Amino acid sequence: MLPSGSMAAALQFLQTLGALCALCGKSVSLVAKPMFNLSNRRALVTGGAGGIGQAVGAALARQGAAVALLDVDQTRVEAAAAALAENGATALALQADVSDGAAVAAAVQHMVAAWGGVDVLVNAAAVLSRAWFRELSVAEWERVLAINLSSVFHTCQAVLNHMVEQRHGRIINIASVAAKRGGGLLGSAAYATSKAGVIGLTKALAREFAPHGITANAICPGPIDTPLIATMSAEQRGRIFAMLPIQRLGSPAEVAAAVVYLASDEAAFVTGDVLDVDGGLTMD
Ligand SMILES: NC(=O)c1ccc[n+]([C@@H]2O[C@H](COP(=O)([O-])OP(=O)(O)OC[C@H]3O[C@@H](n4cnc5c(N)ncnc54)[C@H](O)[C@@H]3O)[C@@H](O)[C@H]2O)c1
Repeated sequence: MLPSGSMAAALQFLQTLGALCALCGKSVSLVAKPMFNLSNRRALVTGGAGGIGQAVGAALARQGAAVALLDVDQTRVEAAAAALAENGATALALQADVSDGAAVAAAVQHMVAAWGGVDVLVNAAAVLSRAWFRELSVAEWERVLAINLSSVFHTCQAVLNHMVEQRHGRIINIASVAAKRGGGLLGSAAYATSKAGVIGLTKALAREFAPHGITANAICPGPIDTPLIATMSAEQRGRIFAMLPIQRLGSPAEVAAAVVYLASDEAAFVTGDVLDVDGGLTMD
């Protein structure tokens, strides 16, 4: 509740604004319109059973989107979708390995058959790989690139025809600060390379699909408090804290908030961007 003096001043300001707009011939509505409204949007979130994926699913659902969570782990993805549905969301669990193009295409087909289309794609499925370069086997290199990078190719191939037909779409790829910092504590050469590739693909998609009303953006989280980070030693975590201007881990909800913004109509003019959600870790 505003003090009565402040309320009067605010009302006077709004009246003056209205008068000015009338003078310059533009009308302005003073009725608050909820921002980031995603009702009537259908979202697909890969890695939907993971720390960030679950938070993204919940945040999109809170804004009104129907949310399909896709993950390789059937038990956990079903539990995550059930939790959304218990809270009143329209939710779907899809089990697929994102490195398998045919499995991804079948999962997207299932979603489209159920809901008629897909408006928002969030690629959050990934694996961390810690092998230093001289210990990095060809098999590990290919596994990481297949799950972290080729997965984005597969999901985008599966959704883009639908988005082009709808003349609307939002692609949001979760990359990592490791793409900019050469991995280091936050990942190996394979992980850093896969995430740098995600950024490159995001920009190529942004350019190619902008004329179709489709935006593509990447988010680079810094260290976020999820099971992925929990596997690090106390010493590694301590070194990460020391590097962060904001001296704490980020939360999955803070990454999810950035996803909600990029998924919204309010972000229609933002494409090909790389949004850092990293506590200041990579600021220039
Ligand atoms: N946690 C962090 O600090 C951090 C920092 C930067 C970037 N990221 C990125 O954020 C995203 C989410 O990470 P998280 O911390 O939630 O990790 P997480 O391990 O909690 O979640 C990843 C999810 O991806 C799923 N997954 C793994 N391989 C898969 C496959 N082949 N097919 C389908 N699903 C598969 C897992 O089952 C898991 O549910 C990842 O892309 C990660 O690289 C995380």
